[in-house]
Amino acid sequence: MLELCLGGRLTSSFKASRILTVTAHNIHSVPTWPNKGLNKLYRLSQKFSLKKSESVLLPYLCYSTVSVINTSGCSVLRQYEVRIKREVGHSSSVHTHGITVDTNEKKKQIQMGPGLEHFIANNKQSNNTLDGDQRKVLSRRDLEKISHPYVNVADIDGNGRKVYFDVYGCQMNVSDTEVAWSILKNHGYVRTNERDKADVVLVMTCSIREGAEQKVWNKLDHLRGLKNKRAMNKKTTPMKIGVLGCMAERLKKKLIEKEKSIDVVAGPDSYRDLPRLLSLADGGEATVNVLLSLEETYADVVPVSLSANRMSAFVSIMRGCDNMCTYCIVPFTRGRERSRNVDSIVEEVRYLSNQGIKEITLLGQNVNSYRDVSQIQHAGFSIDKDEKTHVVKGFKTIYKPKKGGLRFADLLDKVSQIDPEMRIRFTSPHPKDFPDEVLHLVKEKDNICKNIHLPAQCGSTRILELMRRGYTREAYCELVIHIRSIIPDVSLSSDFICGFCSETEEEFQETLSLIQQVKYNFCFLFPYSLREKTPAHRKLVDDVPHSVKLDRLQRMCGLFRTEVAKINRMQVGQQQLILVEGASKRSNLDLVGRNDGNTRVIFPDVEVEDKDIRCTRKIQPGDYVSVLITNSSTQVLKGIPLAITTLQAYHD
Ligand code: 5AD
Ligand code: SF4
Repeated sequence: MLELCLGGRLTSSFKASRILTVTAHNIHSVPTWPNKGLNKLYRLSQKFSLKKSESVLLPYLCYSTVSVINTSGCSVLRQYEVRIKREVGHSSSVHTHGITVDTNEKKKQIQMGPGLEHFIANNKQSNNTLDGDQRKVLSRRDLEKISHPYVNVADIDGNGRKVYFDVYGCQMNVSDTEVAWSILKNHGYVRTNERDKADVVLVMTCSIREGAEQKVWNKLDHLRGLKNKRAMNKKTTPMKIGVLGCMAERLKKKLIEKEKSIDVVAGPDSYRDLPRLLSLADGGEATVNVLLSLEETYADVVPVSLSANRMSAFVSIMRGCDNMCTYCIVPFTRGRERSRNVDSIVEEVRYLSNQGIKEITLLGQNVNSYRDVSQIQHAGFSIDKDEKTHVVKGFKTIYKPKKGGLRFADLLDKVSQIDPEMRIRFTSPHPKDFPDEVLHLVKEKDNICKNIHLPAQCGSTRILELMRRGYTREAYCELVIHIRSIIPDVSLSSDFICGFCSETEEEFQETLSLIQQVKYNFCFLFPYSLREKTPAHRKLVDDVPHSVKLDRLQRMCGLFRTEVAKINRMQVGQQQLILVEGASKRSNLDLVGRNDGNTRVIFPDVEVEDKDIRCTRKIQPGDYVSVLITNSSTQVLKGIPLAITTLQAYHD
């Protein structure tokens, strides 16, 4: 048995990471050992004879089996039985799983807590070294046992409890809800679409603007009423309310103190912990886990879709953001940037293709900044460990260039080869991360949509600098010209914020002129919303009056509508490939689908020739149809369906 002593700085690393992960790779990349904590980590890595690309997970326990895993997190290489000693004398409370616990209380918990059998049960391989053929691929439950080795899986089972999800915010939140649902489903929960009948209501929240948060507060008010009503019926079990996502991370204290009805608060990196948090909440106390991780990508969790009969899916490929735009709360609520390994993404896309999914959207807060550094070697790729990320000319980052590993272009290439009939989109990118390799891939591969989101945020170089976007208006415009020179038929979209700190009327006019100059197929337009703790909150003054922001927003919307109407009109007469989604919301006699540029196209639901089988049939959701565009508006195109085809046949 190994005896490990952890204390001081190392104990604070525990606070930060829930499970302390010692990675040889990180250790070797730190040239000097400037402080005690790192020295201890170094000694630990030696104790476990860590090689590069191996990590050791130290669960927060006194006795435990410690697993050395390969850094991608997929297989246990060897295990050790350890006794962990730590110094807690300097503090009256310690942090465990994000909940502050009194140390006496903690001692009591340990005495009453898990017995040796918990560890023996999880510990079949202890003292053995697994290598070669003996390597074990971890199931999801195995991974959870490593996260919480003292928790008996049966104790945190949902036992058929009904859970209802309420999702606010971006596509990443939809994808995260699918992860949370997968985890709960695996623990015996069932999903309901009827909120009033749910035993557990989980609200996936968004913090990006004040308006988004206000919607959630209103919903929580409403849920409190439902919960109280249900509590009056003694025959039913009490309803539990959980807050997930960005607001959980940002407002944990306020949520618990202000909203007495909330039982569980789980941040974006804590969804694995949901079954445990929910079962602890049965004791009547609110439970919280909002710790952000440097590693969590949920790579091994297969998301379970919330919608039936879907033909498109989101695949989350990276999480977090290192850009620190001054207005943005995302780096604080979602933490540092980290990428999922290529293999797990490819496996998920293959699975989706086998399920008949026709379109996937690769997701990440900074999707094209993707870098899988977990792999030193990878079949089909030569990986130069020193190769830096190529940032677009004229663009800069606040962080040091990332080195080595597989980049977004490598991933996109791999994913595009899985199913030539599957359309691929990606969002949300940063303009700095569009090297030519990515642009050429988008041009060359028929199944990668020629549709690039290029968030400009603003047209004034001075404001861009205050926003810390890392580019000037001129550099952005040059990039647009460059993209169009490689992909002439590309459709571009963007995000814009008006009324940022100190923005003058003239500077706002520069935003209008950028919208006019670039000619976007779609724009997301927002008034600036001050977010606490962001650099803009600390260093700048939110001095543009609300009424001026709203006036500018209206003018931006008006201009965008005029410009997009022209772009849409120019498409009349074209033949386009549409992926059919289903019946149009406006009329049952029409179908709706999307063209390559992501614009909605509406056409009559009639029988047309299926080119494959050479006879006519009804068009189904998931079919590719060639459509002659006959009409346009600011929002949609209208057309006549010509034939059912395939993506490959259409492009031949
Ligand atoms: N206020 C207004 N809009 C914001 N966005 C991000 N933070 C803020 C904020 N504080 C917008 C940006 C970003 C999009 C997702 O949301 O345009 O690209
Ligand atoms: Fe926010 Fe900027 Fe990161 Fe986008 S790139 S998530 S705007 S900090």
